[in-house]
Amino acid sequence: MKILVVGGGGREHAVIKKLKQSSANPAIYCCPGNGGISKDAVCVPVKATDIEGVVQCAKERQVDLVVVTPDDPLVLGMVDALQQAGIRAFGPNKAAALIEGSKVFSKDLMKKYNIPTAKYEVFDDPAAALAYIEKENTYPTVIKADGLALGKGVVIAATPEEAKDAVSSIMEDKIFGASGNQIVVEEFLTGPEVSVLAFTDAHVVAPMVSSMDHKRAYDGDKGPNTGGMGTIAPNPHYTEALAERCMREIFVPTIEAMNQEGRPFKGCLYFGLMLTKDGPKVIEYNCRFGDPETQVVLPLLKTDLLDIMNAVIDERLAELAIEWETGAAACVCIASGGYPKKYQTGYEITGLDANGGLPGATVYHAGTRFADGKFVNAGGRVLGVTARGETLDEALAKSYAAVERIHFQDMHYRRDIGRK
Ligand code: AMP
Ligand code: GLY
Repeated sequence: MKILVVGGGGREHAVIKKLKQSSANPAIYCCPGNGGISKDAVCVPVKATDIEGVVQCAKERQVDLVVVTPDDPLVLGMVDALQQAGIRAFGPNKAAALIEGSKVFSKDLMKKYNIPTAKYEVFDDPAAALAYIEKENTYPTVIKADGLALGKGVVIAATPEEAKDAVSSIMEDKIFGASGNQIVVEEFLTGPEVSVLAFTDAHVVAPMVSSMDHKRAYDGDKGPNTGGMGTIAPNPHYTEALAERCMREIFVPTIEAMNQEGRPFKGCLYFGLMLTKDGPKVIEYNCRFGDPETQVVLPLLKTDLLDIMNAVIDERLAELAIEWETGAAACVCIASGGYPKKYQTGYEITGLDANGGLPGATVYHAGTRFADGKFVNAGGRVLGVTARGETLDEALAKSYAAVERIHFQDMHYRRDIGRK
């Protein structure tokens, strides 16, 4: 059994470590992987967005399954290309990945099928967008580029000036390229945020353990938005009653809506939810595993991940009972100093063992390189240090104890993960 995982971050490392535990005992390849992943998989220097290259790599190595994890190759249609080449692939096809690839599509889908979300309008003309924002005159207001924008396409504008700047940089300066041809202007919602990843084969939707991301760079939710500085699972705000309500009002209707639209979704669907005083609402959909949510969710998965992926592909998820560990997991991300803005790479990371791990925790590598017998930082987010415990407090204590043993120049991490 040979599996190829596409991507090179902490999420991919978590998927790979879980697949390694499969009873099928697979050999694992990764395109392109990173320093830490190279200790768990054979890394092949092919970019995650290189569709031809990945198809070629899968053919040459005769892999049985390709797992496509990042948003851009999914939205570009990598799964379709693999299937056309006769290669089995886990992940939504291009038509289904549009649920993340276009905010206009996802908002219109929710409106059409009565799935609770923030009130919004779509614009393809900056002057019309600004006229609408002026007329509404409620701040903060939320401005979103339609397409993918490296996780930076959402602006929460606190003043008319900030709104004007956002509209002009997205629609006129095209800071996100064609992703800014259209924008969504939407109502600002408040409440705790919950991430729910779910396996779905377009018939059944099986939510995983809930989680909470910490997006801001600094303690107390201060500083710029990042790709995520840490996560906990389960999310303490997400009660059993809320889970049932989300299943009824959001998860099942979304799967049915995608089927109605002729875009059946098979893979992992990410629901970014906000628990407002009017009930749970969808903030965003992602067509993939979340990063760093995966680094706390998969460690709690008891069932063989490969079995689940196969059941999703073969549309027999209904036959599988997916089991979860009790207790909690926490992941603290260590970033390069300066991230998400400018940072330096190439600093030696100390405190890790020869395999890039350390006792008492699981270290997922997000942005590292391994050379000359050393790990060095090679990206903004560098490591995700995960620990499990009977309680959240225990998981956090173990995770922070491990983090304190790791060092590299200018490294930065939040000290308040899971303390909200
Ligand atoms: P995203 O980059 O799509 O993950 O969005 C970044 C963050 O923006 C989300 O995690 C929310 O915290 C925030 N956000 C997005 N839409 C809204 C909204 N309508 N109201 C309040 N916050 C929002
Ligand atoms: N953690 C948020 C995301 O994966 O988009």
